[in-house]
Amino acid sequence: MTAISSALRRALRPGRRCFHVASRQQRANGGRQPSWAPLVRCQRPAAGSRRGLGAGVEVGSAGLDWARIGFDFQPTNGFVKFDWKDGRWDAGTFEPEPYLKMHVMSSAIHYGQGVYEGAKAHHCADGEVRLWNIDANAKRMTEGCARMMMPEVPEALFVKACEWAVAANLAYVPPYGSGGAMYIRPYIFGHGPQLGLSPAPTFSFCVLAIPVSSYYAGGLKPIDVLVADGYDRAAPQGVGNVKASGNYGSDILVTLNARAEGYPTVLYLDAKEKKYIEEFSVSNFVGLKAGAGGKLTYVTPDTDSVLRSTTNDLLMELAASDDFGMAVERRPVPVEELDDFDEVAGCGTAVVMMGVKSITLKDKVYEYGSIDNVERLYDRYRAIQFGEAPDAFGWGSVVPPLPDAAA
Ligand code: COI
Repeated sequence: MTAISSALRRALRPGRRCFHVASRQQRANGGRQPSWAPLVRCQRPAAGSRRGLGAGVEVGSAGLDWARIGFDFQPTNGFVKFDWKDGRWDAGTFEPEPYLKMHVMSSAIHYGQGVYEGAKAHHCADGEVRLWNIDANAKRMTEGCARMMMPEVPEALFVKACEWAVAANLAYVPPYGSGGAMYIRPYIFGHGPQLGLSPAPTFSFCVLAIPVSSYYAGGLKPIDVLVADGYDRAAPQGVGNVKASGNYGSDILVTLNARAEGYPTVLYLDAKEKKYIEEFSVSNFVGLKAGAGGKLTYVTPDTDSVLRSTTNDLLMELAASDDFGMAVERRPVPVEELDDFDEVAGCGTAVVMMGVKSITLKDKVYEYGSIDNVERLYDRYRAIQFGEAPDAFGWGSVVPPLPDAAA
């Protein structure tokens, strides 16, 4: 049995957080009925569903301003942590404080020995909370661990840790109807005293669960994109194909420069020849175009340096399904093809899908007048996530209540 700390048990006492957050928000609202009140009514599970998942805590009872939380860190009950030492993972603990204590000479801080994942859980129409496509995240982390010389996180442990993090934070899961999701951030990093370059002596695997709404303020609303000029995301034979933390650190400057010029995000080209499309800052590239007989083709880049988005993999399945009947092509995409697409989008766990209005490459601007088919895919994808459309592919999996989720 895994230990559930007494702090967690205290934090999970029914109503505790709900009372605290509600009164804080009410004070901010001059004592009036808070703006989130109608959303909180949506959290009532549908008839026949299990109530009181997770030690009697109602989904969404923290009563945050769900529509406005955006994509920011929110304090929750805590996170899950497993430690690896001498070739073994321990039984895991629930950490109520959002801090880690590690040696100053840890490889994660000095040499970037760290890999993270992004996953989601949703409160569905039937009242259940479901992890989304979580096995794919587990597999991708395994690949990242192998590349970055870190111990493998067994798939069962990965899934259990995600279930635990969500079940222990049910009060913070955005309630059905709010449009929000529980963003899950699993990460593994090396630590311990070590100066020379070699794998760390110890590792931690942690999972945070943070409520989010949209990554970009406008959601799917199409945005203008700038092609990164003078910067590459990943080298051929580098680590662009794994979710190494450093890939994201190097993108911050590039994205902030673009934002200063009025572009919310950037698109990277291949580092070697600048001839092929790679990916957006935090999402994969998707182009849609009409082929012979009007049949739509879903095109997405295939290179060794792109991080394969788990969302993109599912969207490709959806696009190819009978309901959408698109041809799907995963292949190198030459820059000139930007002229041929009718619609362009980004896709990833955090953004889900991002509509693209224009792409600026030096003095050339590619413009896209529609996101109609992107929107059709997006709507169906979201409907499956929230249990409003049948999950024919089996992408969702129910989060068991505590203490099973931590067992
Ligand atoms: C995700 O989409 O989950 C990511 O990892 C991107 C991150 C920068 C939010």
